[in-house]
Amino acid sequence: MYIQLHDISKKYSSGSETVHAITHANLLLDQGKWLTITGPSGSGKTTLLRCIAGLERADSGKAKVGNIDMMTANQEEIRKFRRNHIGYIFQDFQLFEQFDLLTNVMIPLLPFEKKEIIEAKARQLLHLVQLTDRIHHKPRLVSGGEKQRAAIARALISEPNLLLCDEPTGNLDIENRDRVMNILKDIQQQGVTIVLVTHDIELSKHGDCVFEMRDGKLREIGMHENNRI
Ligand SMILES: Nc1ncnc2c1ncn2[C@@H]1O[C@H](COP(=O)(O)OP(=O)(O)OP(=O)(O)O)[C@@H](O)[C@H]1O
Ligand SMILES: [Mg+2]
Repeated sequence: MYIQLHDISKKYSSGSETVHAITHANLLLDQGKWLTITGPSGSGKTTLLRCIAGLERADSGKAKVGNIDMMTANQEEIRKFRRNHIGYIFQDFQLFEQFDLLTNVMIPLLPFEKKEIIEAKARQLLHLVQLTDRIHHKPRLVSGGEKQRAAIARALISEPNLLLCDEPTGNLDIENRDRVMNILKDIQQQGVTIVLVTHDIELSKHGDCVFEMRDGKLREIGMHENNRI
C-alpha cells in the first residue's frame, strides 16, 4: 500500500471554537492507483490532502505514505520525502507573484539540479499544459485557468510518485478540464499514484475508486474496477 491512513482525526481550535476537520478516517491506496475524493465545501478534503502530504499532522491515528510514518517522522524527513516523492497542486495555486510562470515551474528543483536542465523540463511541462505562449507572464497577468495549469506543471517538475490534486480543474472550462484530466491519465499510466479532490461530481467518473468526505468523515462510495458505480 502506498497510502495507509488508519483512524486519523484532526481538529482545529481557535478560542472556544473547535472544528473537527477529519474524524476517524481510514484509507488504503496502492501505488499507481487514482483515488477521487468528492464532498461539500468545508467537509475536510484539503485537510486530508495536507495530512497525506505531511503539511499537517493528524492528532491521532496512523498515517503512512510510501515508507514515511507521517505521525512520527521529523519535519526534515517529511520535507525531504515530500520534495522527492510528492507533487501537490494547491487549491489556491500558491504561485509566486514576483516570478514569471517559467520560473514558478522551475522553483521546486532550482536548489538541486542544473538550471539549464530544469529550464528544459519546465518548458516541456508548460508545453504539455499548453502555456508555451505565457511562460514569461507573471501570475497576475494570466487567467485563473492558466494559473491552474502552471500549478499543475510545477507539481510535475520533480517527477513525483504521488500527485495530490486539490480542485485541479476548479477554474477551467469543460475543454480545459478534459485536457487536464487527460494529462492526469497519462501521468497515472507512468505509474504515478493520484489523489484528486473535487466538488465536481462529474470528475468522480475518473479514477479507480471514489470516496466521499462529509463532515470530516470519509467513506468509500465506489470502485470503478468492480463496476460498483
Ligand atoms: N488552519 C485552519 N484553522 C482553523 N480551521 C480550519 C483550518 N483549515 C481548515 N479549517 C476548517 O476545517 C474544516 C475543513 O476545511 P477544509 O479546507 O479541509 O475543507 P474542504 O473540504 O477542503 O473545503 P473546500 O471544498 O471549500 O475547499 C472547515 O470547517 C474549515 O473551516
Ligand atoms: Mg479545500
